[in-house]
Amino acid sequence: MKFFVDTANLEQIREAQDLGILDGVTTNPSLMAKEGITGEANVLAHYKAICELVDGDISAEVIATDFEGMIKEGQALAEIHENIVVKVPMTKDGVKAIRWFTDHDIRTNCTLIFSAGQAILAAKAGATYLSPFIGRIDDMNWDGIELIAQIAEIYTIQGYQTEILAASIRTPLHIVRAAEAGADVVTCPLSSILGLLKHPLTDIGLAQFLADHKKANS
Ligand code: E4P
Repeated sequence: MKFFVDTANLEQIREAQDLGILDGVTTNPSLMAKEGITGEANVLAHYKAICELVDGDISAEVIATDFEGMIKEGQALAEIHENIVVKVPMTKDGVKAIRWFTDHDIRTNCTLIFSAGQAILAAKAGATYLSPFIGRIDDMNWDGIELIAQIAEIYTIQGYQTEILAASIRTPLHIVRAAEAGADVVTCPLSSILGLLKHPLTDIGLAQFLADHKKANS
């Protein structure tokens, strides 16, 4: 399973990269706004900076909601770097745009996925990645991980090549359960990735090893 970090913050991207386990980055308009990145030129420059930091797929989302606008924005994003994956929302125009990008060798990430039906449409259109939002589904008192498992089963049965990118990860346990459910990729806040490190028995065990070593060597 690939690990992407879900942020537009260069410091966090650098920290995740330093761990040596990072395969890519996802962003969205909210994450870009959170970093204060506004205006087309600044947005494109920020994506370029991310591409220079990480040698992996970088999802950059279109803002346009109409087909022509998505194509124009997606082409400009794809021109930044070969690792850019154009992120397109699951709408009627979005599906048409994904098909167009697929036919023109531009890779896509179909975002805002909340049902298996949407996942089938995105795969039919040729999306490279599919982003089901598991945390937001859990927020509604449904089961986000259940959706990942259902999509994984459908994609296996149908032989779809689209990779399942579990998004809207909120906890380290989401990462573990997404892996179990068959996600190909998880995109997570840095805090959830670092949360995987934690276990009190690791800390206790290490303290004991160091104490025994010190005793034996003093
Ligand atoms: C990333 O691709 C998604 O846009 C992101 O994971 C959504 O996360 P959120 O539900 O925490 O905003």
